[in-house]
Amino acid sequence: MKITVIQGPNLNMLGTREQNIYGPIKLEQIHSQMRDVAGQNGFEIEFFQSNLEGEIVDKIQECFGDSHGIIINPAAYTHTSVAIRDAISAVNLPTIEVHISNIYRREEFRHKSMTAPVVAGQITGFGPFGYHMAMVGMMQILNEIKMAKAQQLEQAKKQQQ
Ligand code: DQA
Repeated sequence: MKITVIQGPNLNMLGTREQNIYGPIKLEQIHSQMRDVAGQNGFEIEFFQSNLEGEIVDKIQECFGDSHGIIINPAAYTHTSVAIRDAISAVNLPTIEVHISNIYRREEFRHKSMTAPVVAGQITGFGPFGYHMAMVGMMQILNEIKMAKAQQLEQAKKQQQ
């Protein structure tokens, strides 16, 4: 099963950008840890970062039929993007929203998430470790879906007999 990780604007500057808020860890380091966890648990993983809203919408749409779950940090678009929210809603895949900082402790304009109502869950304020938490959460969701499908198949087979 495949998990797609989508990173929004300015997250390519992690490690350099506002270290007092986001810490010293670079995006590649976060992704490398996520790749390890995915590999150890038999999941395929793909990473995508863009500073452009339309490219993020395109990537979410590409996940339809190609990926089983999405981990997304929409960054600044969290607070503004109806288009990203609608794309998440449209593909209807299990999605987890991650924020490195606690958006509810920061400026008031960050308290509103456009995407929160259309995701399975939101992880905010745990630093880069939030991505690991999202991996654990996503793997649990996907394993539950897999088990439910296997059970349905089993039941269908029994009914045919
Ligand atoms: C962020 C929080 C957003 O408010 C901000 O615009 C970001 C990063 C976070 O990960 O804490 O770019 O999503």
